[in-house]
Amino acid sequence: MTRSLPDDFLFGAATAAYQIEGAAFEEGRTASIWDAFARVPGAVIAGDNGDVACDHYHRYADDVALMKDLGIQSYRFSTSWSRVRPDGGDVNAAGVDFYSRLVDELLDAEILPWLTLYHWDMPQALEERGGWTSRDTVDRFVEYALTMHDALGDRVDIWTTLNEPWCSSFLSYTAGAHAPGRQSVHDGLLASHHLLLAHGRTISELRARDPELDLGITLNLTVAEPADPSDAADRDAARRIDGQFNRWFLDPILRGSFPQDIVEDIRRVDAPAVDAFVAAVRPGDLDTISQPLDFLGVNYYHGEFVGGRPAETAPAGDQAATGRAVGSPFPSHEGIHWHERGLERTGMGWEVQPEGLTRLLTRVADEYSAVPLFVTENGAAYDDEVVDGSIDDAERAAYVRAHVAAVADAIDQGVDVRGYFYWSLLDNFEWAWGYDKRFGIVHVDYETQTRTVKRSGAEYAGIIADRAV
Ligand code: FCB
Repeated sequence: MTRSLPDDFLFGAATAAYQIEGAAFEEGRTASIWDAFARVPGAVIAGDNGDVACDHYHRYADDVALMKDLGIQSYRFSTSWSRVRPDGGDVNAAGVDFYSRLVDELLDAEILPWLTLYHWDMPQALEERGGWTSRDTVDRFVEYALTMHDALGDRVDIWTTLNEPWCSSFLSYTAGAHAPGRQSVHDGLLASHHLLLAHGRTISELRARDPELDLGITLNLTVAEPADPSDAADRDAARRIDGQFNRWFLDPILRGSFPQDIVEDIRRVDAPAVDAFVAAVRPGDLDTISQPLDFLGVNYYHGEFVGGRPAETAPAGDQAATGRAVGSPFPSHEGIHWHERGLERTGMGWEVQPEGLTRLLTRVADEYSAVPLFVTENGAAYDDEVVDGSIDDAERAAYVRAHVAAVADAIDQGVDVRGYFYWSLLDNFEWAWGYDKRFGIVHVDYETQTRTVKRSGAEYAGIIADRAV
C-alpha cells in the first residue's frame, strides 16, 4: 500500500559537527571533550578520532550540492562550540565564518538550515573546570548560543538547543562510554540538570531576542516493554528504563518536574548523589527548563525489551563498544535485564522495530503536550560492501521505508508529526565505534574522501520526490 506524507511534511538528513567536519585544529579551533576522549586508549575502537572525519569543513559546498541532488529539503547540522569559542573563551571569527558560509550555501540550494547548538563537543578547557557538572558551564553555553545567533539569526530560523541530553549526561558522566568518560551517578545527575538548564536559559534568551524563531530540543527516546507483561518484576524493569531514559527529560521540559519515582529509585542506590542533585536544582530552575517550545525533536533507533531477571538465552545485540570498561548509563540498573524477542538487528546489534516509532510518537503526543514533533534522527548501520563502485544496501533502504511508513501511521492516528530526518547523510565518526559503523545514505571512502550515493540514498530521494512510501 502506498502511504503519502502531507505536502508540508519536511524530509531531511542529519549530521553532527565532530562526526563529519575534521579540521579539528584548524583556523583557531581547539580541543573538545571528544578530541581528548578519542585519545584515551581503548575509548574508541581502533584508536580512531575526528581529526579528519569526512573533511566536511573543506568540502561543505560539495556536500550541500549532493543534498540538493538528492532533493533533501532540510539539513540538520550542529555547530562546534570549540570552533566558535575555543576553550569556551573569546569568539573565533574564522570558526563563525565557516557556519555562515555553510548556511549561505544551504540557502542558495534552497535547503532549510536546521541548527543544533550542542551535539556533544564541549570545549575540553571547560570540562577541566567541571564540565556539565558545573553550573558555570550553563552561562558559558548561553554566551556561545548568543554568538551563533548574532552571526546567523538573520538567516537561520530553526534552533535546537541540545541533541540527546541523556547521552551527554548519563552515557558520558555515569557510564563513561562517551566523552568525557566519567563514571559517577552524582556527575550524571548534575550534568543532566545543567544541560536542561542550559536548554531552558537558551530558549528564553533566544525567544527574547526574536519571538519569530522556531525553538526546540532533540531527545533520544525509546519504547520500553516488559518481557512478560504479567510479571511485576518485568513491568518494574520497563518502568525504570522508561523513567531513566524518557521521563527524566520529557517531564522537566514539558511538565516542569523530575519523575519522583526515579528520584527515589536512585536514592536507594546513591543517596548522597541524589541529595547533591536536589540541592543543585535551585528554586526557579524548573520554570526555566519548562519554557514553551515550538517543536520537540525525537530521535528513535530501537526499543528495549527488558525483564526483572536474567534471560535464559542471552540477547544477540547491544554488545559493549570498546576495549575500555564502561558502566551502566542507568543509575538504578540493578535487576534490569535485556531479553531476546527475535527481531531483526542492524549492524549495531540494535533491534529493527518500526512500529515502536508509531507508538512512541503517539505516546508523547497523548501523555505530554500538543507540541509539534519532528523525527530528528532515525537510521541504521549495516556492513556495507562496495561492489564495482556501488553499494546495494537493500536492508538500509527497507529500514528507511519502514520508519517513514511508521511516521505516516502516527500521522493517521492524529499525531502532529511534521518531518523526518535520516541519520545520517554521510558515513561518519560513530563515537566510540569510530569509523567502523556506517549509517550514511552516502558512502564515504575515508582514504580518498570520495562520496558515493548508496541504493538507500537513491531510494530516499525517490521517497522525497514522491512524498510517499
Ligand atoms: C545518536 C546520535 C548520533 C549518532 C546516532 C547513531 O544517538 O545523536 O550522533 O551517533 O545515534
